[in-house]
Amino acid sequence: MPSLISLVVLSISLLSLSTNAAPAPAPLPEPDPQVSNDLSSALSSAISSVKAILQTPTPTKTPKSVSDVTSYLSARYSAEPTNLGYMSNGISYTLNGLSGNNLSVSGLEGSTIDDSPKGINSFTNSNPNPPIAVYPQVSPSDAPYSLNESQLRSAIYIPSTFDAKNAPKPVLLVPGTGAFGGINFQGNFAKILSANQSLGQAVWLNVPYAMLSDAQINSEYIAYAMNYMRSLTNHTVSVIGWSQGNLDAQWALKYWPSTRDSTNQLISVSPDFHGTILETPVDLNSSDPTPVPPAALQQSYNSDYVTTLRANGGDSAYVPTTTLYSAFYDEVVQPQSGTNASAFLLDARGVGVSNNEIQLICPQTPAGTFGSHESLLYNGLTTALAIDALQNGGPADPKRLDLTTVCQNAVNPILDLDDVVETESLIPIAAVNILEYVEDLMGVLTEPAIQPYAM
Ligand SMILES: *[C@@H]1O[C@H](CO)[C@@H](O)[C@H](O)[C@H]1NC(C)=O
Ligand SMILES: *[C@@H]1O[C@H](CO)[C@@H](O)[C@H](O)[C@H]1NC(C)=O
Ligand SMILES: *[C@@H]1O[C@H](CO)[C@@H](O)[C@H](O)[C@H]1NC(C)=O
Ligand SMILES: *[C@@H]1O[C@H](CO)[C@@H](O)[C@H](O)[C@H]1NC(C)=O
Ligand SMILES: *[C@@H]1O[C@H](CO)[C@@H](O)[C@H](O)[C@H]1NC(C)=O
Ligand SMILES: *[C@@H]1O[C@H](CO)[C@@H](O)[C@H](O)[C@H]1NC(C)=O
Repeated sequence: MPSLISLVVLSISLLSLSTNAAPAPAPLPEPDPQVSNDLSSALSSAISSVKAILQTPTPTKTPKSVSDVTSYLSARYSAEPTNLGYMSNGISYTLNGLSGNNLSVSGLEGSTIDDSPKGINSFTNSNPNPPIAVYPQVSPSDAPYSLNESQLRSAIYIPSTFDAKNAPKPVLLVPGTGAFGGINFQGNFAKILSANQSLGQAVWLNVPYAMLSDAQINSEYIAYAMNYMRSLTNHTVSVIGWSQGNLDAQWALKYWPSTRDSTNQLISVSPDFHGTILETPVDLNSSDPTPVPPAALQQSYNSDYVTTLRANGGDSAYVPTTTLYSAFYDEVVQPQSGTNASAFLLDARGVGVSNNEIQLICPQTPAGTFGSHESLLYNGLTTALAIDALQNGGPADPKRLDLTTVCQNAVNPILDLDDVVETESLIPIAAVNILEYVEDLMGVLTEPAIQPYAM
């Protein structure tokens, strides 16, 4: 498993952008997992160099059509094993015009943690008091929050068009690692829902530090938002998550049992309920331990966080759940096929689970051949299944879809090239955020301790 530093150095040398080879990294001070370390100058300069590429305003290519994007991705991931890493994927996306630098979309403004997240990515939102209090707890069985209510509530972004008094189907969008909800969903589910509000009205979470900090804290934001939106609208909430958003939503449902009454269903895009065996940007065995965001460590296959989540029935759905995943081309989460897929949830409680591997439902078609971790946010099949789940109260049933048509849609017909590029930009943006997080001395070498309520 390559460390972040070696990936960074490798990426730079591959690109021949550094004529002076980066010196070997100096050993870091005695690691203390809870205390941030100073970064070695080698690591700092490597981070700056990669960030400069990731933020380059001049990609070498510009996609002219959606098929330019899907062919690039397909070539990248079918030619290589999926284990390429965030940094090199982010750099390649950027150079191939998938960073969003070339777009004039507002969602990219303030989409990185050092760029004062604002607009649709803001986590300093003023939201009204809920009609019925939901803090400090709704049920005596709920875990205690470590954050105060104002922190939890201000992370919920409620668009001005949201009509709380007339929102029979509120939808809570929960982002993945390295993303704020605005940038995560503007080019996909937020747009799909705003095109037809009778499917549901969307709000989303913008968690400070873009889901890179302790996943247990990220889960507090989700638990609160589930109960808050239920109280605000007097209707149960459908939750659509991407990647880590799902793992943390499952954690919220497990340890805040009241949220199961607030939540109508969970729709999980590229979830990693079992973490991933692919490189988390760290190598604890290396002589140059690189601090990384806590959430990255917590999403490794056998992390304490994953093991704790899955224990005592946490590998089974708590609410009707639809999982949507891509077997062989998910470059972030593996394994992702069959019943061993990280996305796969059991249904021990009989609440209704629909596990959907795109290659099994739409084999050898534009929607079911290739699917990267992020492309499932706009894929024609996965978005149709999510809509089916919203229309029917979940979980989705592929038999209700006209698969002859749906399988032909690599991209949901409502979405355009800018939406696709913006969604793809989640990978380079996550890479930038990971680097900024480490630069800001918030990285850790070991997972945060499991909270007492979960032991
Ligand atoms: C996007 O990039 C291309 C090529 O670099 C350039 O010609 C075009 O003007 C750019 N578009 C925008 C909106 O900046
Ligand atoms: C909530 O916590 C934040 C961060 O510690 C603090 O700035 C804020 O004053 C607190 N708000 C309340 C109402 O306690
Ligand atoms: C919008 O959603 C509603 C509710 O699911 C559905 O009945 C209707 O056909 C949809 N409209 C369009 C234009 O897709
Ligand atoms: C909330 O919904 C329930 C039905 O689910 C209804 O009985 C109740 O009156 C509603 N409360 C408010 C404040 O609208
Ligand atoms: C880590 O180091 C130990 C001791 O040198 C070695 O036994 C082990 O195989 C290493 N593990 C990995 C994953 O490299
Ligand atoms: C499932 O995947 C994990 C990780 O790759 C592997 O260790 C395990 O043996 C697999 N189990 C089965 C039944 O294939």
